[in-house]
Amino acid sequence: MNMPFINDDGVIPAEAQARSQGPLSGHEPEHEKEDSMVISLAARIGGLVLGAALLLFLGLSGPTPRIADAQAPWVAPAAEKAKKNPVPSDKKTIDQGEKVAKINCASCHGAKGKGDGAAAVALNPKPADWTSARVQDESDGEIFWKITNGRGPMPSWRHLPETDRWAIVRYIRTLAAK
Ligand code: HEC
Repeated sequence: MNMPFINDDGVIPAEAQARSQGPLSGHEPEHEKEDSMVISLAARIGGLVLGAALLLFLGLSGPTPRIADAQAPWVAPAAEKAKKNPVPSDKKTIDQGEKVAKINCASCHGAKGKGDGAAAVALNPKPADWTSARVQDESDGEIFWKITNGRGPMPSWRHLPETDRWAIVRYIRTLAAK
């Protein structure tokens, strides 16, 4: 099909439109205008359909991320695990950590860090239970690294001041099941 007035975007270039209208500009019969609009619309819809088909194809044939991958053990690099917490474990630091955690983390991890925040229902994997032995057995450096980087539904908290992230770790320590 030859559509001389339609460029790759399915748009009729202004000068081509002007040419087709010629000296009679403003007086051409209505149906000519409609014809060119129909062609342009057809070209746009054709493009959309092609795009959708391509996306579908890629979606079906491409590598599909597996949920199982997200639940593989989450382990910090050795150098990160070994990092020492630079903030003291005093009341001021712990209060600060609690404050920052209440604001940013409680929606998922719950008010007491048990992983039962309101948003937890919808998440897979579930937010970690900070009070659990599994989390408590990790080093400060490892917990800090996980807070900093996040994974899957767990956001990265890199934008929080570093001292706040270390303070949260101090706070998490106070939640250990006794
Ligand atoms: C949107 C929900 C959400 C928010 C908000 C959130 N988390 Fe998480 N968090 C998760 C999920 C889900 C996981 C489990 C991720 C995984 O195992 O892949 C997780 C895991 C963790 C872990 C890893 C524990 C471990 O050893 O496996 C730590 C530590 C943690 N979160 C701390 C925080 C802190 C601190 C904040 C706030 C600054 C926070 N999270 C905010 C959802 C959230």
